[in-house]
Amino acid sequence: MNFNQTFLNKLSEAKKIVFFTGAGISAESGIPTFRGKDGIWNKLKPEELANFNAFMRNPQMVWEWYNHRKKIIHEAKPNAGHIAISEMQNLFDEVTVVTQNIDNLHRRAGSKNVFELHGNIERNYCIDCRTFYNEELDFSSGVPKCKCGGLIRPDVVWFGEYLPQDQFSGGEKASVLSDMFFVVGTSAVVYPAAGLVYAAKQAGSYIVEVNIEETEISSSCDESFFGEAGKILPEIVNQIKKLKLR
Ligand code: OAD
Ligand code: ZN
Repeated sequence: MNFNQTFLNKLSEAKKIVFFTGAGISAESGIPTFRGKDGIWNKLKPEELANFNAFMRNPQMVWEWYNHRKKIIHEAKPNAGHIAISEMQNLFDEVTVVTQNIDNLHRRAGSKNVFELHGNIERNYCIDCRTFYNEELDFSSGVPKCKCGGLIRPDVVWFGEYLPQDQFSGGEKASVLSDMFFVVGTSAVVYPAAGLVYAAKQAGSYIVEVNIEETEISSSCDESFFGEAGKILPEIVNQIKKLKLR
């Protein structure tokens, strides 16, 4: 792959970089994305699965779906894209991952500084007393319940819910302070998460997109690389290593 001179200059000068990621970075690990050709939301309705009212109406169905996804995620491994991002930690002063994914694969690949905007499927909490249950849950009597009697739900953000404030503000701070901001494998249509792209851009960061196809935000990016994240990100890592050797 041939990188243009502006991009190479930015890479050599950058100290703080952010990777803003979405379902596309985990696609090569075998975890389906939400939109696009084989997207989950083509077959299932988000409003029937990923919102609080759906959970109150039919917690069993919502849990079945999350347990299905949990199984896929547990069987999945970080791919070359996650690993390349983790390797960047050796090449820049500050690397921050701001992810919309709930699959924990960035941490499993070794990334240290990770903000999870939409929660984490490994964690659960009681909707009444907010006690966390991060161990295996007991489904023997249907839906898992807290010792207080409340329903236990996965710690993921559903449509209509606020993002975890500490995660969003941490991600936002890193975004506006970044020298380069990579947008990887996201359709960038879900807000407030997608707003971080514009926040970083307005603050003067150099915006680089990595996606298999054009997205809503392509025209706002300084650079777009079209292809699989698992191919392009390792090439960028190799390029940086060459630049650092000079
Ligand atoms: P989407 O499914 O909307 O978008 C996935 C993006 O990844 C698309 O733009 C694809 O073109 C791209 N893509 C697919 N395979 C790729 C690959 N191998 N390399 C690079 N890019 C690839 O997923 P998100 O943008 O993450 O929210 O969706 C945002 C939010 O909507 C999710 O966090 C979830 C969903 O509903 C909640 O559940 C709250
Ligand atoms: Zn409780």
